[in-house]
Amino acid sequence: MSHLEIVIAKDPEALASLALERLVAATGGRLRIALAGGTTPRRLYTRLAGDERIDWSRIEIFFGDERVVAKDDEASNFRMVREALLDHVPIPPENVHRIETERGSAGAARHYRELVSRAPLDLVLLGMGADGHTASLFPRTPGLAEARGVVVTESPVPPKGRVSIALDVINGAREAWLLVSGADKAERLAEVYAEWHGSPAPELPAAMVRPRRLVWLVDEDAAKRLPNPESRERS
Ligand code: 6PG
Repeated sequence: MSHLEIVIAKDPEALASLALERLVAATGGRLRIALAGGTTPRRLYTRLAGDERIDWSRIEIFFGDERVVAKDDEASNFRMVREALLDHVPIPPENVHRIETERGSAGAARHYRELVSRAPLDLVLLGMGADGHTASLFPRTPGLAEARGVVVTESPVPPKGRVSIALDVINGAREAWLLVSGADKAERLAEVYAEWHGSPAPELPAAMVRPRRLVWLVDEDAAKRLPNPESRERS
């Protein structure tokens, strides 16, 4: 059983602040967290970088997905996270586990599968694309629901080659947060909501995200097609 909480923030900045406060509250003990790529999660990382309340020695960072490019390529999720966050905080380098794309897609996936299978993640941060993808799990990918561990996928937009944690890793985590902002996501998010509640076999990857505890952190623009938004928690 997955429990879904929907929290609606006024705008992308308020969404980042809200996520930051929740994250700080979640970091009392050791935390194994998987980060997402994308502009919405990036805002949170920038905030995190300027926050002094976190004991970084107790945080272990993983990546939910990576583009198969060099680690300093502009499209690299690792590079984005490094520039927005890691370069600015005292995190021990051995606590950062990147997807090693220099091993090639299959090699990187095999290596990462071994890493993430050692213990369940405490928290998985996710973004959602306007097509309903999450991490690098894209709609209409054959075998997506059954895939295990870490998979090689193909994005409809460049860079095509991707390595992504699979749904069993996401759904085996203690908690996942789906961060969504922008009016261009509103329609798809309403579809994801309908599939999440109504379909035992959803087609949109974001609707397949069902860990024990799931929080959707969305801004008002992205939430505007959800049923009864006024009945939800707002900040
Ligand atoms: C990636 C992401 C991806 C992203 C969404 C949302 O590597 O592209 O992990 O799943 O989070 O596409 O991205 P935006 O927040 O930029 O819309």
